[in-house]
Amino acid sequence: MAKIIASVCCSHVPAIGAAIDLGKTQEPYWTRVFSGFEKSKKILEELKPDVCIVVFNDHATAFSMDIVPTFALGCAAEYAPADEGWGPRPVPVVKGHPDLSAHIAKSVILDEFDLTVVNKMEVDHGLTVPLNLMFGSPKEWPCPVIPLAVNVVLFPPPTGKRCFNLGKAIRKAVESYPEDLRVVIMGTGGMSHQISGPRAGLINSDFDKAFLDSLAGDASHAVNLKHIEFMREAGAEGIEMVMWLVARGAMNEKVVEKYRFYTVPASNTAVGHIILENAA
Ligand code: DHB
Ligand code: FE
Repeated sequence: MAKIIASVCCSHVPAIGAAIDLGKTQEPYWTRVFSGFEKSKKILEELKPDVCIVVFNDHATAFSMDIVPTFALGCAAEYAPADEGWGPRPVPVVKGHPDLSAHIAKSVILDEFDLTVVNKMEVDHGLTVPLNLMFGSPKEWPCPVIPLAVNVVLFPPPTGKRCFNLGKAIRKAVESYPEDLRVVIMGTGGMSHQISGPRAGLINSDFDKAFLDSLAGDASHAVNLKHIEFMREAGAEGIEMVMWLVARGAMNEKVVEKYRFYTVPASNTAVGHIILENAA
C-alpha cells in the first residue's frame, strides 16, 4: 500500500526562484535564506519519496479570473513551468503520476470532497520554488509530482478546517492505493506577508511561530484560525498558510518535528519551513 511518510511545508517566494535562476544564491541576503534549506535537502534525500503531492496556490497563472476552482487536482502526465511575465523558469518539466492522481480524485470525490480534475495545467512559482528548495536544481526532478491547487486569490477561499479535512481524505486515498509508494505531501505559501496596499511589508513573527508550534503539536489552534485572523494578523497573503493545513491533515494526530527554519524576510515575506513525520 502507498503511505504518506512526511509532510513538508515551506514558503514559495518568487524572488527565491529568481535568485536561483539568476545565480545570486551566494549573495549574503540569499545565503541567509538558502542555508536554512541545506538540511532539508539531506532529509528529502534520505526520505526518498516515490511521489510528492504539492499543495500550492496558483497565482492567477494557470487559472485566469474566468474560472477559479477551489481545489484543483492535477491528473496530467506532465506540467510545464508557467511564464509568469519573465518567460518560463529554467527548471525541469514536472512529471506527474496520472494513475495515483486518478485514484485520489476517485477516492476523495466519492468521499464527498468535490475536487476539480485538471488534465492540463502550467505550474507557477508556488510549485516550482519549493521543489528547488527541497531538491536543488537537478536536470530532472527526482520523483513524479501531483499538484493540488487551492484557491486563495478570490474570496472566499476554503477555510483552514476544510483544508485540514481534505488532507485527511487525501491520506485515506493514498493509503488505499495498492502499490507500495512512499509519498511526501508538501504545503507551500506564506508565512505572514502582504504585498500591496497600506500594510504592504507586514510581517508577524509571533503569529508565524505560533502557527509552526501548532502544526508540530495537535494543530487545533492553526486549524481553527478564521480568514479574518489570517488577514488581520498575517497580512492579506497570509491566507496562503491554509495550504500547510492540507499537508498537516494528512498526518497522524501526533507528529514528530524533524526540522524547522524561519527567517525574515525574503522579498516581502517571512520564510517559514517545517518537516513533520508521524509519531509512532
Ligand atoms: C511574494 C510572495 C508570494 O508568496 C508570492 O506569491 C508573490 C510574491 C513576495 O514576497 O514578493
Ligand atoms: Fe504566493
